[in-house]
Amino acid sequence: MEGKLKHLIDWKFWSNEDTVRMLNLAQRVKHYRWEYQGHMQGNTLVMMFQKTSTRTRVSFEAGMTELGGHAINLDWRSTNFTLSKIAFETRYLCRNAALIMARLKENSELMEMEQAATVPIINGCCNLYHPCQSLADMLTIAEDRPEGVAGAKLTYIGVYNNVVNSLVSIAAPLNVELTLVCPIREPGSVDEESRKRLMDKGLLTETLDARAAVAEADYVYTDTWLDMEFFNDPDYEEEKEARCKTMLPYQINKELLAESNAKVMHDMPIHHGYEIAEDMVEDPRSIIYDQAENRLDAQKAIMLHLLHELK
Ligand code: CP
Repeated sequence: MEGKLKHLIDWKFWSNEDTVRMLNLAQRVKHYRWEYQGHMQGNTLVMMFQKTSTRTRVSFEAGMTELGGHAINLDWRSTNFTLSKIAFETRYLCRNAALIMARLKENSELMEMEQAATVPIINGCCNLYHPCQSLADMLTIAEDRPEGVAGAKLTYIGVYNNVVNSLVSIAAPLNVELTLVCPIREPGSVDEESRKRLMDKGLLTETLDARAAVAEADYVYTDTWLDMEFFNDPDYEEEKEARCKTMLPYQINKELLAESNAKVMHDMPIHHGYEIAEDMVEDPRSIIYDQAENRLDAQKAIMLHLLHELK
């Protein structure tokens, strides 16, 4: 990577050392919050959204404010990205922005943006990866576990999707033991390369026995069963019903966790009554809001590294 413009598309494209350093930097940024004030002074982050967001939108802008920079929010549909080539519009943005964070539907479009960019591109969640989320997840476990993330037993119960790909890819360098309980795989979205890498390290278990997986776990994590974009779309009602039928036995609820002290994680937004029962969100075992809060410091660390090479 020496001398080459660095982006964050997913952790699988970073060295193990750099990924470990990012978690350490995120911890320092959170602990010494105001020491980093002003590090982004005079710099602009452009945020581009093709899809809805609460956390990614708010935490990137708040992060940039805390670092002394400025963030511009662009809704794809109100820009000329709808009329022109991604490469041309991206080249223009780079004449103004120090960093670009993009939430695009297709990874292929994000890669077009990356190819054209002359400033770092941060993936704010595409169909394949959600790296900002997985760093925040690891920061949450690191804060909760005095012995560190290595050796933590994390069980993910849900659909195999973009969030899972990034959990799999970050677990390898951080030596997190990941168990996946995924009765459904989002078509075309499983990153087999990252999966094999974690499997070869002996850190990946796959099972459909949710009870056994929960009994062993330090952390139990779930996510939406249907791409949130389609959750309230009448055209996806049939698919939603089919998924609910398959997935309902895997809901995170008091019964499933009756014998477990595992902490409960969810990347939000929450569809209560589906992947998680409402009472689990406020259960004493839930660290969901800490996890969501950690998006802020994880992303501040990512921006500081990409712009100033802080480690
Ligand atoms: N977890 C997450 O990315 O949240 P938003 O979709 O609200 O940004």
